[in-house]
Amino acid sequence: MISAIAAVAGNGMLGLEGWLPWDIPEELAYFEQTVAGAALLVGRMTYESMESVPVDTFVLSRDSDYVVRAGCTRVSSVASGLIQAVATGKPVFVIGGASVYAAAWPYCRRFYLTRIGMDCAGDTLFPESVHLADWKVLSERKETYLERRSNMPVVCRFMQYEQANPLRLSVDHCLTAHE
Ligand SMILES: NC(=O)c1ccc[n+]([C@@H]2O[C@H](COP(=O)([O-])OP(=O)(O)OC[C@H]3O[C@@H](n4cnc5c(N)ncnc54)[C@H](OP(=O)(O)O)[C@@H]3O)[C@@H](O)[C@H]2O)c1
Repeated sequence: MISAIAAVAGNGMLGLEGWLPWDIPEELAYFEQTVAGAALLVGRMTYESMESVPVDTFVLSRDSDYVVRAGCTRVSSVASGLIQAVATGKPVFVIGGASVYAAAWPYCRRFYLTRIGMDCAGDTLFPESVHLADWKVLSERKETYLERRSNMPVVCRFMQYEQANPLRLSVDHCLTAHE
């Protein structure tokens, strides 16, 4: 099972200055719990913003000289990263950022999306190419938390979406997976 996980503000913002546009520890904890024990596919910029990364993290970068931390693997394409992540035998999560969601969503059966009920200043938008309105809603849960920067309560909607026919990783992808 390949899934993606993201959180997005009401105005579509995903990121600000290399981090999240909001400060909601409970939402971050939900992310960590959801991906615990999974193999991860992550873009180089998001990877660099993470203090710690679990083993079996596959870091997308086109820079063949890019050196990753112990337990991580650099990959140069989404298909290659997903093939190698699936080969670990663990569940696989695509954890962003925007460019990675835009390239990886066709392979994802599930998309875990937290809708943050406020507009935020930001510099990175959730990609328009991911049309979650076309996906089936599997579940929705609402919680209200304190957003620490504004000191305002914010409603977070934890959504799970599913698409019926995700793209399958093909033999061609397998042949190019080992770089
Ligand atoms: N709200 C959320 O759920 C969430 C989740 C994740 C991230 N974010 C935020 O999003 C922002 C970062 O997103 P971003 O889109 O700017 O950066 P990103 O996706 O994290 O990283 C972009 C880099 O990844 C590599 N890359 C991306 N697609 C690739 C592909 N198809 N093939 C090979 N390499 C590829 C490239 O690295 P090289 O330049 O090394 O080639 C590219 O410059 C941050 O603010 C972060 O905090 C938010």
